[in-house]
Amino acid sequence: MRHTRWFKDMVFYQIWPRSFRDGNGDGIGDLWGVLEKLDYLKELGIDGVWFSPLYPSPGADCGYDISDYMDIAPEYGGMEAFRAVLEGLHQRGMKLVMDLVVNHTSDEHEWFQKSRRRIEPYTDYYIWRPAKPNGKLPNNWDSHFEGKAWQWDDLRQEYYLHLFAVKQPDLNMDNPLVRTEVKKILKFWLDLGVDGFREDVITFISKKEGLPDDHLFPIFKGIRFYNHGPHIHEYLQEFRRDVLENYDCMTIAEAPLVTPQRALDYIEESDTNEIDMMIQFQCMCADCFFTDYMPRSFSLKRLRRAFSSWQKSHPSGLGDWQYKLAGRGWNALYLENHDHPRVISRYGSEQYRVESGKMLAVSYLFLKGTPFIYQGQEFGMTNWRPESTSMYEDVQTRNQHPDWPEEKRLALYHRASRDSARTPVQWTDGEHAGFTTGTPWFYVNENYTSINAEQALHDPDSILNFYKKAIALRKSLPVVRDGSYQEYYRGSDKLYVYARETKEQKLLVICSFTDKPVRFQAPYNFSLGDMKLLLTNYDGTREENSFLTRPYEARVYLYE
Ligand code: NOJ
Repeated sequence: MRHTRWFKDMVFYQIWPRSFRDGNGDGIGDLWGVLEKLDYLKELGIDGVWFSPLYPSPGADCGYDISDYMDIAPEYGGMEAFRAVLEGLHQRGMKLVMDLVVNHTSDEHEWFQKSRRRIEPYTDYYIWRPAKPNGKLPNNWDSHFEGKAWQWDDLRQEYYLHLFAVKQPDLNMDNPLVRTEVKKILKFWLDLGVDGFREDVITFISKKEGLPDDHLFPIFKGIRFYNHGPHIHEYLQEFRRDVLENYDCMTIAEAPLVTPQRALDYIEESDTNEIDMMIQFQCMCADCFFTDYMPRSFSLKRLRRAFSSWQKSHPSGLGDWQYKLAGRGWNALYLENHDHPRVISRYGSEQYRVESGKMLAVSYLFLKGTPFIYQGQEFGMTNWRPESTSMYEDVQTRNQHPDWPEEKRLALYHRASRDSARTPVQWTDGEHAGFTTGTPWFYVNENYTSINAEQALHDPDSILNFYKKAIALRKSLPVVRDGSYQEYYRGSDKLYVYARETKEQKLLVICSFTDKPVRFQAPYNFSLGDMKLLLTNYDGTREENSFLTRPYEARVYLYE
């Protein structure tokens, strides 16, 4: 079947279900709660929803440890609520994308329980190795969440590989039976009517034969032997050929440490491309090295490089001749998801929350690609900062430097924890921020009395109403979808300025990433006086070729 690439005209919203909205009063977000909010999403201009895992799970990694791939967790409302949400989305012309987590399962999955008992055909479903004669682990790889990547199993008397938490054993994708299981999962959900998959750390699924020791990398030991591993393309082609090709669906791959050039091996547009878009991480590293837990100060130059390198690799349409890799792939655009702290608290300013929240929206919504908005981002939620490290829930957070003194750990967690973005969505200024009528499963950020969706809906100058405008504008301008990308002010650590251009339209986007005034001078080929100011986060903006920016000012101009 021909893939129509419908996602190119869409704006997606990510729901992390546990904290989105509780519909039945048990304190846990669920699909009944989602159902209540479909019109809210539609009015925002959302065309599709990506759900973080909804499947039954013991919750060792908040749902990314799955114990049954073909069901919906009872706490989320089970299949009945899922069908209602799927229908509700489709009735509104919106898409539904599931999270596919097949690098690993939960250790409570039936496959693992049988594998540890060597019950066929499950014996080789996971990556088991005996202890080395000298008692050492099978290799020196690190897990991303909990110490070394190996865990001893008393029943099987072998180690199993877990690249993430101990309770997330890695599947052995080299086993054709495991690949058949993955294909069954894909088919099951596609036949039910879902529209695509976000594929969790999918570039990790093929490990190098022999699982060699890594003597090169000081951190993430082993990653060079399993990221883009030897059979990755073969396996993804198999999934495409045997299942995905038969549906007009979309796939988006989470891909740590991927470069735009490497991404093309997966996403270069053709009749047989393996993946449609990639979730790259460079745009999350403007204030850290590799992970949020290795902080450094924010640099706009780094963020610009992250945006620009992907924009330049993938433009299509007029003006592309200037780029070597032009027009060959499509971008996923995001500034927040469930794995990172809130963006206003990182790249913007809590003091200038409204101004910087709007500016950040402008900074990425007019780039080429499909934007994703994470729950709460649209009305400017900020980081949660609890008073003790014991209040953190997330397995990744809890295992960061457990030996450090409390104060130092707390400061790091405040800065880096993904729990900062996992508190319940603040719907109202009422009890529990209107998230639940029961007792919320997790702490509510205390700032809900001033930062909440209801307030934002009624305030014409809110971040939420700005997102609505920006999304509508984006959709009305073909240049945002098709135009070439040109960056200006490349040396600036304060202004991010880019243009998008087709034969018919020319767009100029100006974003200030500082509260200090900066002199902006229009690039030589632009005359702001002749352009229309389409969007700005300040009133009374004069259209001049040169102006002093106000704190976190953003402007979008158009020539037609
Ligand atoms: C990436 C997911 O986004 C993250 O939340 C999860 O913890 C890891 N993969 C492991 O599945």
